Amino acid sequence: MSGNSHEKVETNIGLMIILIILVVSVGGLVQIVPLFFMQSMIKPVEGLKPYPALQLIGRDIYVRESCMVCHSQMIRPFRAETERYGHYSVAGEFVYDRPFQWGSKRTGPDLHRVGGRYSDDWHRAHLMNPRDMVPESVMPGYPWFEKNKIDGASVQQRMQMLKNVFGHPYTDEEIANAPKAVEGKTEMDAVIAYLQGMGKTIKTVK
Ligand code: HEC
Repeated sequence: MSGNSHEKVETNIGLMIILIILVVSVGGLVQIVPLFFMQSMIKPVEGLKPYPALQLIGRDIYVRESCMVCHSQMIRPFRAETERYGHYSVAGEFVYDRPFQWGSKRTGPDLHRVGGRYSDDWHRAHLMNPRDMVPESVMPGYPWFEKNKIDGASVQQRMQMLKNVFGHPYTDEEIANAPKAVEGKTEMDAVIAYLQGMGKTIKTVK
């Protein structure tokens, strides 16, 4: 650009805004669009399955209670993180997460590799009243999880929707058996099942 036209841009705020939007959009597209085509970003990691009925409902409860406000599910590839939590998170682990629960705030620890770290009984006691397990905890208790029963029909509808709309590979049998799989279960059972299944598909280095 000659000195003259540069001056024109700098003295015309409307033109400058349009040009800035243009530059930022091109920059954004160059960064974002390739991600939609990279296999490592869009393919499920080996062995990943859509959430079984009980875990799926546990996940919905996690969203309802906004656990993601205090917990991330995104281990970054830094030594301080991998030594504490295990293998860093990879995109292919979240293919069946709609919406993903990466979070951005860690009042509590990252939960992506919490699956299998504690017993079911530990989680039960911790969710009823965290201070019984960790005296200095600021996490709220969720005692109503123990009382609320799960509605099998709505789990089934949700699985069918995920299959129809997003192509999650549930079999007809899994969907048909969903109400039975959650029969008599409480929200507590569902949240624990979800936590215990978390982040276990790829081998963790601990
Ligand atoms: C106000 C913030 C806050 C909210 C909301 C919250 N937590 Fe926590 N959570 C914490 C803190 C702080 C800790 C660490 C102390 C402890 O273990 O209680 C923690 C610890 C945990 C742990 C143990 C993790 C580990 O590796 O030791 C689990 C599991 C957990 N939370 C699950 C949940 C679930 C499930 C929900 C939603 C139902 C939830 N949290 C909501 C703050 C929170």
